[in-house]
Amino acid sequence: MNRALCTFSLVLASSLVLLHAESAANDIVVDTCKKVSSRDLSYDFCVQALRSDPKSRTADLQGLGLVALNLLERNVTSTGSYVQQLLKRKWDRFVRVRLSDCSELYSEAVLHTRESIEAYRAKRYPDVQNWLSMVDTAADTCESQFKEKPGASSPLTKQNGDAMQLGALGLNMVAIIAGS
Ligand SMILES: *[C@@H]1O[C@H](CO)[C@@H](O)[C@H](O)[C@H]1NC(C)=O
Repeated sequence: MNRALCTFSLVLASSLVLLHAESAANDIVVDTCKKVSSRDLSYDFCVQALRSDPKSRTADLQGLGLVALNLLERNVTSTGSYVQQLLKRKWDRFVRVRLSDCSELYSEAVLHTRESIEAYRAKRYPDVQNWLSMVDTAADTCESQFKEKPGASSPLTKQNGDAMQLGALGLNMVAIIAGS
């Protein structure tokens, strides 16, 4: 083999190895999302959410669960501050009352998510499930109270939907981890 060809093959071989390592590392995200996606959690949302944290590239299943819970914590925390920002604007009474409720619901959701992370680290999975259900209920309650008046619309539909899907992600992952 001449030298150029030899170098070329070497480069090709090592990029194949790298490519393989990369896809193997990502398989756990794909595998997990295939298992946990459901009516409440789309597969695409799952993959995008988990891949948004670089830690998911090297995590095992246990680590990936923590990645999911940390995503949820960051999510409900920023939604909480977003609601605070919204409350500084002018709203009619119907919306204002509900936004303040959502603000409370989200500050509790932040605490509940932190509890769920502590419980997860201690492998107290039923506790994790309880805390996560409370987060899910909070987002659901925030969203549905805007439907009490015909024609009213929620300014938080996307945020509540994200929190519910991330909550479902955490719940479904914990179900697998606790069962394995
Ligand atoms: C919440 O998480 C979703 C999914 O990772 C992301 O698309 C969205 O931007 C996050 N929202 C906030 C407010 O951080």
